[in-house]
Amino acid sequence: MSSETPSTSLENLSREDRRFPPSEEFSAQAVATSELYDRAAADREGFWAEQARELLSWSTDFTQTLDWSNAPFAKWFVGGELNVAYNCTDRHVEAGHGDRVALHFEGEPGDTRTLTYAELTAAVKQAANALTDLGVGEGDRVAIYLPMIPEAVISMLACARIGAPHSVVFGGFSAEALHSRIEDAQAKLVITSDGGYRRGKPAALKPAVDGALAKGSESVEHVLVVRRTGQDVEWTDGRDVWWHDVVDSASAEHEAQPMDAEHPLFILYTSGTTGKPKGILHTSGGYLTQATYTHRNVFDLKPETDVYWCTADIGWVTGHSYIVYGPLSNGATQVIYEGTPDTPHQGRWWEIVAKYGVSILYTAPTAIRTFMKWGEQIPAEHDLTSLRVLGSVGEPINPEAWVWYRRVIGGDRTPVVDTWWQTETGAIMISPLPGVTTAKPGSAQVPLPGISADVLDDEGHPVPNGSGGYLVLTEPWPSMLRGIWGDDERYKETYWSRFEHMYFAGDGAKKDDDGDLWLLGRVDDVMNISGHRLSTTEIESALVSHPKVAEAAVVGAADDTTGQAVCAFVILRGNAEQGDDIVTELRNHVAQEIGPIAKPRQIMVVAELPKTRSGKIMRRLLKDVAENREVGDVTTLADNTVMDLIKSGMTGSS
Ligand code: WTA
Repeated sequence: MSSETPSTSLENLSREDRRFPPSEEFSAQAVATSELYDRAAADREGFWAEQARELLSWSTDFTQTLDWSNAPFAKWFVGGELNVAYNCTDRHVEAGHGDRVALHFEGEPGDTRTLTYAELTAAVKQAANALTDLGVGEGDRVAIYLPMIPEAVISMLACARIGAPHSVVFGGFSAEALHSRIEDAQAKLVITSDGGYRRGKPAALKPAVDGALAKGSESVEHVLVVRRTGQDVEWTDGRDVWWHDVVDSASAEHEAQPMDAEHPLFILYTSGTTGKPKGILHTSGGYLTQATYTHRNVFDLKPETDVYWCTADIGWVTGHSYIVYGPLSNGATQVIYEGTPDTPHQGRWWEIVAKYGVSILYTAPTAIRTFMKWGEQIPAEHDLTSLRVLGSVGEPINPEAWVWYRRVIGGDRTPVVDTWWQTETGAIMISPLPGVTTAKPGSAQVPLPGISADVLDDEGHPVPNGSGGYLVLTEPWPSMLRGIWGDDERYKETYWSRFEHMYFAGDGAKKDDDGDLWLLGRVDDVMNISGHRLSTTEIESALVSHPKVAEAAVVGAADDTTGQAVCAFVILRGNAEQGDDIVTELRNHVAQEIGPIAKPRQIMVVAELPKTRSGKIMRRLLKDVAENREVGDVTTLADNTVMDLIKSGMTGSS
């Protein structure tokens, strides 16, 4: 196992013996039953074909479920044609559910908007017409840089409707990061807004787009701007257009054209082990099948009665699969919220749950740990009895947070589903099924019906129960990534070369005595900060791009609230002066290069970095320092006095 695997948590976890069997009442009404496992085990491909046909509307039926002849490049539902946006909007209206609420939007300042399925369908049709008028056609890429407002959902669906793959860039990313994503995908259009509300104030977005395009982006023809905050914006005539000018006046008639099952639906950039983010490519039929299937079964969704709320941002994959595509394909009613959990007060989320009668809540462990810190008296002030299923995603959830979530938020009554998946997997892969699985706090437990996973040792052999190793997926799945945008080699190299014929997830995992899976965090140079993936190398490159920095090493150190926190060690250039100013300057520089989420919690100015004889930085030792631990084995260091030097000479901090 790599040194990055948290072995201490491995020991702690094996002492966790609390069990939460489903209640009889819950099981009796549950969507998922244990039969699903049997059906999938008997005929995996047949099972997926059945899901695809039952859950989606196809314009042309497929002739082959999986074509894996050119592995690892998969084709699912070969020959099938469908329109993803039609599946998420029109078909519900045609089925008589046009009056059902699709979105309850709650703005941070307290403004609200409700869109029924009929209204959402009309809005998507108008946006699709406007995009076409702006010259966007099938196959053209569209970058979306928006806050959590209904137009974000409408934009994504409008792109899907006309077959233009979207690339959503999280609003917290900087102009620099936005620029590299626009360039990599050669986007033709950027959709943004003047700004959004964040912590009680309007926060501008348009300047970052202007900044990104000022760096040179020849592919971009137009910028479509939603007016959200009303703040002043710079305007480039001929390039910039207001949403209310071109979308609101567009026709609400639009016939969705069928697309091939493998037509690209979106690209989403995520951090890898190198400095350059990877454009993860997802396509239409397989992705929508698994997003729909998992959303329905894992959350026990009853579209007629449930009110679902996923607190993610659409800038991340969770927002793609579990705000836009899964829920809307299922015809669910959901809440979307623009702002932060503590604006204007720390009970805002619980107020929203009570106001809309939210019955299914999907959030991240970092949020749960923050609420634990704020105290249980805050949720206790609100009526949370509408909740009936709770979900967790993004990082390992520690058993204490799991139990707190169930007890304080779920009234000791609701199932909690810990869902493991990745941007690359497109949809949930490993999770208990509520009503079926006896839950173990802290464990994602079992691959979903239709999914095959294992844990391997260094040599690629499955580990026995009770042991840890590397998580792999042993069979292709419908919502798997189809590649890395423009880089087939990197796709093969990153995911399919570590172990033969298996997908290497980059996560450590352990099988317990029952064979259930416990996720242990990344085994590579990817950090997980508040459930957001960041690469150590990417932040190191940002630091060394500063004129005062000679060298930098970044590690993710354990943090009680955010899971991990960014800790940087830097060597300054000879003539740079030290002190607190430089720390602030460097933190701001990282925010500018990547975004505020990447700002190091701690920057330590050091004279040397620990390196092996071949010049590789030993991050494991720096992690020991960052986590205030006794420094581990230093015998492979080229100069084993370096660690003493670092510990005695450290200056600067948060
Ligand atoms: C981590 C987010 C443990 C994991 C959907 C994975 C988890 C990375 C869990 C993907 C979980 C996600 N338990 N770890 N339930 N869910 N992870 O691409 O390290 O932003 O590889 O996708 O988050 O992050 P990504």
